Amino acid sequence: MKGVYTNPRFFLAMTVMLAMAAALVQAQATRVGFYARTCPRAESIVRSAVQSHFRSNPNIAPGLLRMHFHDCFVQGCDASILIDGPNTEKTAPPNRLLRGYEVIDDAKTQLEAACPGVVSCADILTLAARDSVFLTRGINWAVPTGRRDGRVSLASDTTILPGFRESIDSQKQKFAAFGLNTQDLVALVGGHTIGTSACQLFSYRLYNFTNGGPDPTINPAFVPQLQALCPQNGDGSRRIDLDTGSGNRFDTSFFANLRNGRGILESDQKLWTDPSTRTFVQRFLGERGSLPLNFNVEFARSMVKMSNIGFTITMKGAYTNPRFFLVMTVMLAMAAALVQAQGTRVGSTVQSHFRSNPTIAPGLLRMHFHDCFVQGCDASILIDGPNTEKTAPPNIMLRGYELEAAGPGVVSCADILTLAARDSVFLVNILLYFLNHILLKVLSINATADYVFHTVEAQILGQPQNPIPIAHLNPNPPT
Ligand code: HEM
Repeated sequence: MKGVYTNPRFFLAMTVMLAMAAALVQAQATRVGFYARTCPRAESIVRSAVQSHFRSNPNIAPGLLRMHFHDCFVQGCDASILIDGPNTEKTAPPNRLLRGYEVIDDAKTQLEAACPGVVSCADILTLAARDSVFLTRGINWAVPTGRRDGRVSLASDTTILPGFRESIDSQKQKFAAFGLNTQDLVALVGGHTIGTSACQLFSYRLYNFTNGGPDPTINPAFVPQLQALCPQNGDGSRRIDLDTGSGNRFDTSFFANLRNGRGILESDQKLWTDPSTRTFVQRFLGERGSLPLNFNVEFARSMVKMSNIGFTITMKGAYTNPRFFLVMTVMLAMAAALVQAQGTRVGSTVQSHFRSNPTIAPGLLRMHFHDCFVQGCDASILIDGPNTEKTAPPNIMLRGYELEAAGPGVVSCADILTLAARDSVFLVNILLYFLNHILLKVLSINATADYVFHTVEAQILGQPQNPIPIAHLNPNPPT
């Protein structure tokens, strides 16, 4: 026992196994085309609902984008923002001005008629946010779906939303809590390229901000313009564009306005004042001397990240997640089958890659899973080119492609991937024995537990593995 706990291989095995479980849990969360079989028209129904509302009221586009953000930051993207009732999220101050609920209701009604009980409101809202960006001439991107709707909605949880007076440090912290970095923050706040703000949320900047004057970060030439739009003691509900001069179009002019001291919200203008965020504003503007970043592409990437909040399971979350245990059970069963088969061989290629980089084990297992779920286990995941499976968001993080060189001319890539996934599991199967031991201990069968563990300790740490022949199951290996 002691030998196992202090053995570096044991800790490596533990780490890899847990990473595999976490990766699988994460992989199961959302994926592009989740409704392809169960409700093939889901995405087009949402788009046409957004489109028809947009035609009569273009304000719903920014409304839906903001609603999605406010949904995701509070208990994950689970449509809890839509729940009615006293003290729900909807009733909290940061959400009082949200717009576009009727679009989600309309899309949901149509979807219930087409495929009853299939499409979640959380997915409808996520898709509607994407469609809103597209309709305002921004980018179109593939939205991973498969979210489940939440049932908890508490106004008190909305304090997590960043406020319009918030410092950049605090904004960064709030985003980082959801795995969103500084670039994600700047890109996502770039969503203010469309939509408006009520005067009541920024007019304090125009009068008596410092020593009786306006906020010094506002361009002095811009102050009278804003004062005319939002007079002191005027109508606080009056709305003005967050991106002056281009409020209906999804573009980079919001960032140009920040550079020119023409940001409307205090929190927006701070993106320029603070050097850590200014860098990204400059990059999105493609400023000379900066490393240019394509705003639309990065916005889409960050949106996918944000729209997975609540579905990207952290290791801590994984332990309390029932799916984690399901995945663990399946993997342990696989490992048990391998052990029972006596003398399982670790493919030497996998082994040598594993030695130099142990993270290929979970990488290969996940790759095999992604391959099998899309058109069967046919190695289509390995095909290069534009718009291949490899390029889709759920596959962007896949690892272990370097193994492709393992079987030139004879063995199909599909088989190599299948075997590599098996071998990856074998490399970490020591955890099976560890868990067995705990289980038996918990059941107070201590003698048996110790026997099992000591036997295994000897097998895994002391004895060489017996090779077994590999069966090539694919009847038509590629030539
Ligand atoms: C530090 C983070 C953020 C702060 C402090 C913030 C704050 C605000 C405020 C105060 C408004 C005006 C609301 C009103 O008067 O109705 C607003 C509007 C808006 N926000 Fe944000 N926001 C942030 C991040 C985001 C993100 C991440 C997105 C989307 C990806 C977003 C999208 C929008 C949109 C589209 C509007 C216009 C809404 C409309 O016209 O109805 N915001 N935001």
